[in-house]
Amino acid sequence: MRLAGKVAIVTGAGSGIGQGIAKQLGCEGAKVVIDYIGSEAGAEETLKAIQECAGQGGGDIVRGDVTNMNDVRSLVDEAWKRFGGADILVNNAGMEIRSDFWETTEEEYDKVMAVNLRGPFFLAQAFVQRLRAAKKPGRIINISSVHEDMAFPGFTTYCCSKGGMRMMMRNLTVELGPLGITINNIAPGAISTPINKALLADKPKLDALLRNIPLGRLGTVEDVAQMVAFLASDEASYVTGATFLVDGGLMRNYHEQ
Ligand code: BGC
Repeated sequence: MRLAGKVAIVTGAGSGIGQGIAKQLGCEGAKVVIDYIGSEAGAEETLKAIQECAGQGGGDIVRGDVTNMNDVRSLVDEAWKRFGGADILVNNAGMEIRSDFWETTEEEYDKVMAVNLRGPFFLAQAFVQRLRAAKKPGRIINISSVHEDMAFPGFTTYCCSKGGMRMMMRNLTVELGPLGITINNIAPGAISTPINKALLADKPKLDALLRNIPLGRLGTVEDVAQMVAFLASDEASYVTGATFLVDGGLMRNYHEQ
């Protein structure tokens, strides 16, 4: 139980990668604040899985929209109220909207940036304010994407948000290091989750994608969750300022043919 005694806040923990992360952290002993916005049933499922591993009291559900400042503050406040504090923040909630650049609307731009970048920014801020006041160390783990670095035509808003998340992490490494707070990004590649439901249902597109993944398969939420658990653990205490690819080699793929 390498996370026993720790408290983790995980956003978007009612489905996909966030659900896998919350379960992993909970099963390794952390108390988990399970944030969700859309899927209450999914959040209940996350909580149930944690309770099966860790017993009652292993987690608590808090509904919170990361684009709403009141929700952002209360998500952090709830961790303090319910569990007496928090040590780990996992900025996982994210979304993408496919649209050609020349057709992208202000609404699409604002929505993607608000969920993927503004939310993590202010959540990290609320978390750091609490830690700083209590003179406590902490861990921030952002679920970014290979597209914090790699082009993704048709998803420029998503790439802008993840590129922003990359620089946010790099800057905060310097600003938060002296407070004993580490920050790292995980960059998943193609993981089988609801975010890419359309792609998973389109066999020719899926096959083309698989040909680009050297390990020849999609990733699972557990592949990502294992990396989060490591970064949250004491073993990673000297690790800060890095992006960790969990992508089966997708980022490095190159074929001369
Ligand atoms: C996106 C997926 C995409 C994958 C690989 C992820 O960040 O959310 O839609 O399939 O990157 O390109």
